[in-house]
Amino acid sequence: MMDLFSEIEEPEREELKRLRKELEEANYKYYVLNMPTLSDREFDEKMHRLQALEAQFPDLFDPKSPTQHVGSDLGKKGFETVRHKYPMLSLANSYSREEIEDWVRKLPPNAEIVCELKFDGLSISLWYEHGVLVKALTRGDGVQGDDVIANIKTIPSIPWRIDRADIPDFFELRGEVLLPWERFEALNKEREEQEEPLFANPRNAASGTLKLQDPKEVARRGLEAYLYYMLGDNLPGTTHYERLETAKEWGFHISDAIKVCKNVDEVMAYIAYWDTERKNLPVATDGIVLKVNNLAQQEELGFTAKTPRWAIAYKFPAEKQLTLLKEITYQVGRTGVVTPVANLEPVQLSGTIVQRATLHNEDFIKSLDIRPGDRVWVEKGGEIIPKIVGRADRNDEMSATPSLNDGMMYSFPDVCPECGTPLVRVEGEAAWRCPNEAGCPPQIKGKIEHFVSRKAMNIDGLGEETIDLFYQKGLLHNIADIYDMKLEDIAAQERLGEKSAQNILAGIEASKQVPWARVLFALGIRMVGETTAKKIARVYNTIDTLQWATVEQLCAIEDVGPQIAENIVAYFNDMRNLEILERLRQAGLQFEGEAAEGPQSDKLAGMSIVISGTFAHHSRDEYKAMIEANGGKNVGSVSKKTSFILAGENMGPEKRKKAEDLGIPLKTEEEFLEMMN
Ligand code: IVH
Repeated sequence: MMDLFSEIEEPEREELKRLRKELEEANYKYYVLNMPTLSDREFDEKMHRLQALEAQFPDLFDPKSPTQHVGSDLGKKGFETVRHKYPMLSLANSYSREEIEDWVRKLPPNAEIVCELKFDGLSISLWYEHGVLVKALTRGDGVQGDDVIANIKTIPSIPWRIDRADIPDFFELRGEVLLPWERFEALNKEREEQEEPLFANPRNAASGTLKLQDPKEVARRGLEAYLYYMLGDNLPGTTHYERLETAKEWGFHISDAIKVCKNVDEVMAYIAYWDTERKNLPVATDGIVLKVNNLAQQEELGFTAKTPRWAIAYKFPAEKQLTLLKEITYQVGRTGVVTPVANLEPVQLSGTIVQRATLHNEDFIKSLDIRPGDRVWVEKGGEIIPKIVGRADRNDEMSATPSLNDGMMYSFPDVCPECGTPLVRVEGEAAWRCPNEAGCPPQIKGKIEHFVSRKAMNIDGLGEETIDLFYQKGLLHNIADIYDMKLEDIAAQERLGEKSAQNILAGIEASKQVPWARVLFALGIRMVGETTAKKIARVYNTIDTLQWATVEQLCAIEDVGPQIAENIVAYFNDMRNLEILERLRQAGLQFEGEAAEGPQSDKLAGMSIVISGTFAHHSRDEYKAMIEANGGKNVGSVSKKTSFILAGENMGPEKRKKAEDLGIPLKTEEEFLEMMN
């Protein structure tokens, strides 16, 4: 009998293991890579199933199971990892009135419930010591997080210091960091122009931004924060609501949408109101959060391993609509990749009108089995860029439009929709590409747009429209033509007077000082992005050496794989490119690295250096740059591999102790500067 039972159980045991793996992977992709693969709902359903299976098979208990801990975003370089004073938990989700009622039933009778918006960003924990912001930790794995204080300080609404006598010595405020819609859209537009991958939603964009190593860039992107939870000993107030009021008085950014409710009807009215009204908010929300107001009751209810019992989230349903796929059009990018785009009958979805959605590539279209004339499902889940997730049954009379797709099979074009050149498909790639680099209009214009863009040559006054105009008029055919343009050619164009012509020429002139690494990026070699270009330029500090580098040599550079290396070699093997490069050289562009681009010396080569404390002569960022410019590596935490600590005033006690324990030497600011001299 026993054997028979275990045989019946076997598939479920297998399912349990598979779910653990799947959820672990989904967590990694969500938290570390910022590339969600499952919708929240799918994730929750799988998690519930796993919980049920684990209850059924207690012998398979595993403390490492995703049911036992929250996902982790740890492991990014350059930030100090710090243990949370109070674990940072997540919330249980609910999707219906029934689920909310179930939760309310377990609360003390007549418990007051605070309703708040559920902001869709990433959680942050701010530590205030004697009124001074001393740490800003990400959730990390819930037990320890990364200190991203330099980036958090770029958010104008977060106070760095609170000058009041009535605040406790220590308190913590938790909240959500967000990239407002407007900023998100501007950032993605910029990334599209640079052919960088787009962020799927503001949450991913905020997460990617918070982990940047460059606070200046973080500041430029414009993060925002809302705070919703105060913790600490000896805090004023007996309810959650009072605490948030207090936090507001102390100068913290607290949402106005908070409401104390007495029963489920009031909660549902709040939900109904915000389900539509949230579309007018400047930031993304994905639900509401219900919290027991009374703090004594909260304490009584306590926590499970992962979530508080005194709070629950209600998630707004992802919006989905059927609409007609009118036509598939094709966009040709600067590298010749042909991207299919769905042109839809306009449809209202999560507050915006959707009429276009990317179809990515041929495989994507095939996997959905869609063609013009189909009615397709468009989804905007968790405020993600609209995507097509399926189609209606073609036999359903209401769903299909026979006149358009009757008997027709869809096929991807075999010639470039812009210039008629037969398309090619590189092995191992999903994309079809137009190989007519030098003659295909969107490729020509796209390359010029990339060349002049802000992170490349940064030539003001040459926008998309102007480039198009100059191209039409025969003034611009490639990037080298930019440097041959004359004042009178430009000023003769409609819409452009002498003044703007002068501005453009000034921008062109200034671009001759742009350093080698950015020139290399500007050339637009396939897959050589901004960061890769910097790394290559550091190793090959003149174009003459780079030009002769082999695939093997290039592969020795950090982040350069065989595909990138081959693209570089192919670029320099093309006579047309060599001609353009020669003209650019004549024009006076920087084809050699300045000293500041690569290490200025190798005094610190092979050393790992920790910076700690505050400094009198230079900023931390300057010291970091100095270390890197001299061949050293700046690392976040002390380990036995640390060469020395650049120790300023008020160095953290934990670091000091660790350094002592491991026998790592400390160097003062003055000693370090002397060493660099
Ligand atoms: S309270 C212990 N309130 O949602 C409870 N969380 O899915 C702490 N979130 O990790 C959370 N808006 O990042 C709370 N008004 C709000 C929130 C909120 C968004 C996030 C938070 C949390 C996640 C759980």
